Amino acid sequence: MAASLALLLLLLLCPASSDAAAAADELSLLSFKSFLLPSDGGGLLLASWNASSRHYCTWQGVACGRRHPDRVVELRLRSSNLSGTISPSLGNLSFLSKLDLGGNHLSGKIPPELGRLSRLRWLNLSGNSLQGSIPAAIGACAHLTGMDLTNNQLRGTIPLQICAAMENLAYLYLDGNGLSGQIPGSLAELPSIQDLSLKNNRLSGHIPSSLGNLTGLSYLDISNNKLSGPIPSSFGNLTSLSELDLSDNMLSGSIPSSLGKLASLSGLDLSDNTLSGAIPSSLGQLSSLSFLGIDSNNLSGVIPDAVWNMSSLTVIGVQYNMLSGMIPANAFSTLPHLQRVYMDHNLFHGHIPASIANASNISMLTFVYLSIGANRISESLPKDIGLDTLDLSSNNLSGQIPKSLGDMPILHSLNLSFNNFAGEVPTNGAFANASEFYIEGNANLCGGMPELRLPPCFLKPPKRKHQIMLLPIVISLVSMLAIFSLLFVLHTWHTGRKTEGPTRTQMQGHPMITYLDLVKATDGFSPTNLLGSGSFGSVYKGKFDSNNVDTDLVAVKVLKLETPKALRTFIAECEVLRNMRHRNLVKIVTICSSIDNRGNDFKAIVYDFMANGSLEDWLYPDTNDESGKRHLNLYQRVTILLDVACALDYIHCHGPAPAAHCDVKPSNVLLDADMVAHVGDFGLAKILVEGSSSMQQSTSSMGFRGTIGYAPPEYGAGNMVSTHGDVYSYGILVLETVTGNRPTDNRFRQGLSLREYVERALSDKVMDIVDRQLSLDVQNEHETLDDSSHKRKIDCLVSVLRLGLSCSHELPLSRMRTTDIVNELHAIRESLLSE
Ligand SMILES: *[C@@H]1O[C@H](CO)[C@@H](O)[C@H](O)[C@H]1NC(C)=O
Ligand SMILES: *[C@@H]1O[C@H](CO)[C@@H](O)[C@H](O)[C@H]1NC(C)=O
Ligand SMILES: *[C@@H]1O[C@H](CO)[C@@H](O)[C@H](O)[C@H]1NC(C)=O
Ligand SMILES: *[C@@H]1O[C@H](CO)[C@@H](O)[C@H](O)[C@H]1NC(C)=O
Ligand SMILES: *[C@@H]1O[C@H](CO)[C@@H](O)[C@H](O)[C@H]1NC(C)=O
Ligand SMILES: *[C@@H]1O[C@H](CO)[C@@H](O)[C@H](O)[C@H]1NC(C)=O
Ligand SMILES: *[C@@H]1O[C@H](CO)[C@@H](O)[C@H](O)[C@H]1NC(C)=O
Ligand SMILES: *[C@@H]1O[C@H](CO)[C@@H](O)[C@H](O)[C@H]1NC(C)=O
Ligand SMILES: *[C@@H]1O[C@H](CO)[C@@H](O)[C@H](O)[C@H]1NC(C)=O
Ligand SMILES: *[C@@H]1O[C@H](CO)[C@@H](O)[C@H](O)[C@H]1NC(C)=O
Ligand SMILES: *[C@@H]1O[C@H](CO)[C@@H](O)[C@H](O)[C@H]1NC(C)=O
Ligand SMILES: *[C@@H]1O[C@H](CO)[C@@H](O)[C@H](O)[C@H]1NC(C)=O
Repeated sequence: MAASLALLLLLLLCPASSDAAAAADELSLLSFKSFLLPSDGGGLLLASWNASSRHYCTWQGVACGRRHPDRVVELRLRSSNLSGTISPSLGNLSFLSKLDLGGNHLSGKIPPELGRLSRLRWLNLSGNSLQGSIPAAIGACAHLTGMDLTNNQLRGTIPLQICAAMENLAYLYLDGNGLSGQIPGSLAELPSIQDLSLKNNRLSGHIPSSLGNLTGLSYLDISNNKLSGPIPSSFGNLTSLSELDLSDNMLSGSIPSSLGKLASLSGLDLSDNTLSGAIPSSLGQLSSLSFLGIDSNNLSGVIPDAVWNMSSLTVIGVQYNMLSGMIPANAFSTLPHLQRVYMDHNLFHGHIPASIANASNISMLTFVYLSIGANRISESLPKDIGLDTLDLSSNNLSGQIPKSLGDMPILHSLNLSFNNFAGEVPTNGAFANASEFYIEGNANLCGGMPELRLPPCFLKPPKRKHQIMLLPIVISLVSMLAIFSLLFVLHTWHTGRKTEGPTRTQMQGHPMITYLDLVKATDGFSPTNLLGSGSFGSVYKGKFDSNNVDTDLVAVKVLKLETPKALRTFIAECEVLRNMRHRNLVKIVTICSSIDNRGNDFKAIVYDFMANGSLEDWLYPDTNDESGKRHLNLYQRVTILLDVACALDYIHCHGPAPAAHCDVKPSNVLLDADMVAHVGDFGLAKILVEGSSSMQQSTSSMGFRGTIGYAPPEYGAGNMVSTHGDVYSYGILVLETVTGNRPTDNRFRQGLSLREYVERALSDKVMDIVDRQLSLDVQNEHETLDDSSHKRKIDCLVSVLRLGLSCSHELPLSRMRTTDIVNELHAIRESLLSE
């Protein structure tokens, strides 16, 4: 009796229908597996897919539901080296909400059976070799939010069914296929669409003007197709759009002035079309526009004045058009974020805009590149140029090449070829390096470095006795020079320090700031403004209210010049940071090298102020303090680690010269008001000699670089400074950020290092070693949310710790490269975000 009651209870608890559905899920998965080629990496991965030893909900990549614990809700096998075809049986996983098979080698067709997945929200099949057309049946997935089919070999047209009932579709990416035919006007019926990317296909015909009805659209990219006809003026209604890319088509007609209504636009690319007419001045209203690309069209007329008012611009590309008129003298100077301007191959005339001359103009800090070659620019060169690269070739410029240009600190490429320059080519600075300037096609130049093989610059010498004639001239010149220099030395000696008062020098391209300015900004270096002090100096918070400086709040590092190393670190920091600009580096506002009110040397570096202090402050909050209650969650920590990795990747590989930071640690990672991390304190940094691998013997006078606990083992032994050393310190920082333990913690004194401590716990006791705040977060998640999110967080912790371990490998060459670190952290962070 009791037994039958129990049986009845069992039957009630597990309804037979659910059993059957669950069994069907298992069969569908096994069928999916059987369609894959077992010889590949996928075969290895799917070894865990063994019905007799494990429940299918625990198979790799499979996640089951919270309310329906036997039903498969996610199948995520991204970048798993799978090949073979996609089994139609997936259409039977009726609870599936996320299907991600992106980045594999799958071939064959997309099974139309996927259209039966009525609960499907995310479909990612990108980066495979899928063929055939997009099955119209997909349109039946009424709940689909995002569909990514990019980079396959899909052919045929975009099915109209996609647009019919997909009320939730917000992200549609079909780029990089061979899709042809027209863009269906009915796409305009997708009420929720935000991102629409159809680039790199073979779509043709006109752009449907109905797309102008998609007012929620924020990203539209239909570049590199075969579209023709005009840009619909209805696009002016797409007021949420932040990026619009129509480049590389055959669009014609003029640029609709309605585009000036796209107030949120930050990138506009209309290049490589056959657009004609003038640039509408309404574009000047695009106050958020950062990238403007309208090059390689047939545009004519002048650049409207309003364009020089678009203060967010960083890149302007108008090359290869028929634009004319003069470039205003103060062009560029009102664009504080400008970086690169391409104006070559047009019909501009007049002179070189005066504003490029002024390297000290604060508003031109980032502006480094200008090409105005192949125009009709005339007259002469300015005496100074505050750019890195300037191309003036094939114009109508004349006059001499000023010697002062050789001394421009950041000028590294000057193309003067095919003009009418005359006179002597200087030999100083940039002109001493034949790869930095180009002068061919100027008939009347002389002198210069011998490699140029130009005629010498002497006036036609008298035919006879010229040596004898020249000698007295040389002698009198030399003696005049000697007298002048003597006078000059006497003068400067006389008027020396006492009368000179506070002097000021500045870094090229940065605003000038005097000692007195800094006294004012920091309230006389008052202790209340002291942010911290170290062996080389003290850091104060300062506030400028002049409009000379574009940031109000700053941090001022005053160097203790009595310690001999301080001056060297100052010079190192200036040298390294001179040309470095990156989102994740602390920005130097300026440097101040002056005399204080007692007549002593005074040197300070002024940085952007970082409102949220250092990573160290966050990892070890002062519990007495109000701020002690704050802490970083897992996502924030991963983002900070990613920011730091990006900064290192930049200074190691992508900066103006490869460099090593040599002191990566939490107190040197600073957080701005938006919690974006910036790597600071380059006092120990070192520029590495290019070409000599990335390793280099450090000068012995510098001695040990770095901080105990973070410095790699090889610095102690052989003093090798290298980018690998930074990666070691970074690895330690990663482990510390996740575990909340300093590498110098007392518990690591007796043999066991932070690395070993993590290594031991990695396989099964991860939650025991992570920072208490993090483990609380993850624990909460466990209780409130579904298992798969909890599992994902633990996976993420494990991946980050593993990354920390591979960065802090004992052997320098076995450590990860920064590029790989960045990629991996991106992937980890994304996996954390996915629903
Ligand atoms: C992917 O599969 C191919 C073919 O079997 C194999 O050669 C390759 O090593 C695998 N790659 C990875 C990363 O597993
Ligand atoms: C599945 O697991 C069982 C027991 O662990 C094992 O005997 C069998 O060979 C496995 N099958 C496959 C296909 O790996
Ligand atoms: C889907 O399930 C049905 C029965 O539930 C079955 O007849 C069919 O063969 C399955 N389809 C695939 C492709 O496995
Ligand atoms: C789809 O997968 C690919 C390859 O793994 C990935 O790069 C892409 O970001 C994914 N798409 C979306 C929308 O997440
Ligand atoms: C935009 O939508 C409105 C109504 O929703 C419709 O009347 C109009 O024809 C659409 N515009 C275009 C260009 O399709
Ligand atoms: C959308 O654009 C069309 C064509 O430019 C215009 O006639 C219409 O008034 C616009 N609609 C809205 C809501 O701005
Ligand atoms: C460019 O515009 C000019 C007139 O402004 C016209 O004569 C020429 O044919 C156009 N070129 C192309 C390729 O459209
Ligand atoms: C540029 O901006 C200034 C100040 O905002 C304004 O006075 C001026 O009229 C603008 N110029 C143009 C051509 O829009
Ligand atoms: C420097 O920039 C300001 C705007 O910030 C501008 O008014 C001024 O003309 C510029 N100076 C030169 C010489 O370009
Ligand atoms: C550059 O600008 C500064 C101030 O912005 C000014 O004092 C200086 O005279 C300018 N130099 C040139 C060459 O225009
Ligand atoms: C300089 O300009 C000439 C003429 O346009 C061009 O042929 C040459 O390649 C340019 N040199 C460099 C290095 O860009
Ligand atoms: C080049 O400049 C000279 C004067 O500097 C002028 O006379 C001549 O017309 C210009 N040539 C062209 C093609 O603009």
